[in-house]
Amino acid sequence: MTQIRQFGQPAPRRPGELGVHSLDRFNFSVPDLDAARKFYASFGLDVRAERDALNIHTHGHPHRWGSVVEGPRKKLQFISFGAFEDDLPRFRARLDHLRIARIDPPSGAESNGLWLRDPDGTPIEIRVAEKSSPNEKPPFDMLGGVAGLAAAPSRSKAPAVRPRRLAHMLVFTRDIPEAIRFYGEVLGLRLSDRSGDMIAFVKSEGPGLHHLSWDVGSVNNIGIGAMQMADKGFCAGWGLGRHVLGSNYFHYVRDPWGSYAEYSADVDYIPVDHDWMSADHPPEDSFYVWGPTPPADFAFNHEVAA
Ligand SMILES: [Fe+2]
Repeated sequence: MTQIRQFGQPAPRRPGELGVHSLDRFNFSVPDLDAARKFYASFGLDVRAERDALNIHTHGHPHRWGSVVEGPRKKLQFISFGAFEDDLPRFRARLDHLRIARIDPPSGAESNGLWLRDPDGTPIEIRVAEKSSPNEKPPFDMLGGVAGLAAAPSRSKAPAVRPRRLAHMLVFTRDIPEAIRFYGEVLGLRLSDRSGDMIAFVKSEGPGLHHLSWDVGSVNNIGIGAMQMADKGFCAGWGLGRHVLGSNYFHYVRDPWGSYAEYSADVDYIPVDHDWMSADHPPEDSFYVWGPTPPADFAFNHEVAA
C-alpha cells in the first residue's frame, strides 16, 4: 500500500460521506506516440517519455495527470480516481455491498487500487493517491490596462502558455442517467450541472474520451495558447467562448485523433462543504453563452466510429 503523507493543512472532507477526492489520472492509447508528444508539448504540457508511455505533467506541478500509450487506435483505456488512504477499506466494503465485480488491473498499469468497470465497460480504479484537486479556487487574472501604459506585449514577446493543472475530462457514455447514478453511488461524485469538476458525460453509442481540459490563469492565456497551437499547425478547434455550465472561458484545439484539448479559465469551483443545487439545463440555453458556432462534428465519438 502506498503511504501518502499529507503536508500542511489537512484536505477538507464532507463528514459522513464517502467519495473520491481527485481525478487522479487518465490513460488512453493512440497509434502514434510521436504525434501525441508533438501535440501535447505544443499545448504547453510537460510530456515525459518513460518506458512505453508518454506521461503528461504540467510544468512546475508534481502530479502526473495521465498517460498516453501506443495502441492500434485512439481509445480510452482507464480512469483512476484518488481516494484518502483511510477510505479505501470503506470503498472495498461498498463494492462488496453493491455486488460490483472487481477486475484485474489492465496489463501494464501500476496499481495499488481497486479495479472495476463503469456501466460502459471502461476500467475504473479507486486508488490511494495524494489529493491533486485544488482545495480552493485557483487565481484568475482579469486585470485591465493602466492609463499611460501599453498593456499588450508584442507578438514575439508573448510568453509561452503552460497550463497549471488538469481541470476536468469529458467522456462519452451510452446512458447518461446510468453514468450519473454509477459515479454518484459508487465513487461518491456529486452532480454539479451535468458538467462537473471532475468528470461529465456526453451521450454516444459507446465509451470514449471527448476532451481533456487544462486550467490557465486568464482569458489572455487562452488566446495566446490558441495562437501557440496554430503556429504549430493545430488550427482546428472551437473558441474563444464561454460555457454556461461550468462558466469557464474556453478554446478547444482538435487533436490528431478528432478529440480535443481545452484551454480553460475560471471554471466554477464548488467548495467541498458547499451544497450546490444541481440542475438539468436545456441544452440550447446552457452549452455556451457566447462564442463561434461549434464545429458540426464537435460531439462525434471517433472511438466508436473507428
Ligand atoms: Fe470542458
